[in-house]
Amino acid sequence: MSGLATNYQVCIAGTGSYVPEKVMTNEDLAELVQTSDEWIFSRTGIRERRIAAEGEYTSHMASNAARKALEQAGLAAEDVQLIIVATITPDTLTPATACYVQQQLGASSAVAFDISAACSGFLYAMKICKRMISDGAFENALIIGAEKLSAFVNWEDRTTCVLFGDGAGAAVLRRAEKGEGAIVATEMGTDGNLTHLLNIPGGGSALPITQSNVGDHLATLAMQGKEVFKHAVTRMKQAAEKVIERAELKSEDIACVIPHQANLRIIDAIADRLSVPEGRVFVNLDKYGNTSAAAVAIALDEAHRSGAFKRGDHIVLVVFGAGLTWAAACVRW
Ligand code: COA
Repeated sequence: MSGLATNYQVCIAGTGSYVPEKVMTNEDLAELVQTSDEWIFSRTGIRERRIAAEGEYTSHMASNAARKALEQAGLAAEDVQLIIVATITPDTLTPATACYVQQQLGASSAVAFDISAACSGFLYAMKICKRMISDGAFENALIIGAEKLSAFVNWEDRTTCVLFGDGAGAAVLRRAEKGEGAIVATEMGTDGNLTHLLNIPGGGSALPITQSNVGDHLATLAMQGKEVFKHAVTRMKQAAEKVIERAELKSEDIACVIPHQANLRIIDAIADRLSVPEGRVFVNLDKYGNTSAAAVAIALDEAHRSGAFKRGDHIVLVVFGAGLTWAAACVRW
């Protein structure tokens, strides 16, 4: 490394995603808790979600998504320089899930670590890697959002268990050649005053799981849904506006908006407030529910492979999650 300041453009060279085979429909859930397809679909837009098989871990889903992204990018696993896994459902508290992924892919030259930013993690990872590639420290990076939320859901709580699912999405970032696309603008934010709105209270050092509290569902997701909803709409709208403005564009210039897939009513409210032209907001949460860090990554891959945007188009990714955290990116494809 020369030590000279550099400012390379960074492009997304490939995307991939993976969801487990097992489908759990709203009707299946109605057999577990007092709910209905009508309630779930009308409040959230979710019809079904995927559930990881026994013995299928977050790292396995992450590696499956990563292999597809590497294939599309034409990058061999042994040439990957950096792997970041965004997850709140790691295989183990330590080591990082990214270390298991490095081993599973055979990406033995890569530096690998996790970040924890809940549903915002994939775009946090994108920003970190963009900076590390643009300053010349790395030539490429693999970013992955992967979650096995089924292991951290209270299956007796109808207010949360209907919302979440399992899966993984990945993208290969690399130094862009002349004329290629680029990550044009990014935005991230956090409000640590609102940690209590959405969390997994137990299982960490603050509240370890012991023999006396093991039945209390402390290591499962807890949420104040209405409050989260309000903040999600405000923060995602602001973050998307910022990146569109920084890219010197208007919302009508954006070919595709890919939002965090948590709730269709949140997505509709953002689309409305941003005045995005009809039909330009990508939605797949009906099939997968909220897969936290994986959601926007899976949606990016599906939007890309389905032709929702093409070379030269500008797209906006925008997310929101526990923390509270939020982030957005404007990408010229
Ligand atoms: N099935 C049937 N009834 C349910 C239910 C379910 N799965 N979950 C809750 N209810 C009931 C409640 O008990 C309540 O009944 P009550 O009026 O008798 O007390 C009623 O439905 C309304 O509940 P409420 O919580 O007010 O519903 P809501 O309109 O706020 O919708 C969410 C709940 C969770 C769908 C909504 O708040 C939401 O989507 N929030 C954002 C959550 C999110 O996206 N989080 C992740 C961000 S990354």
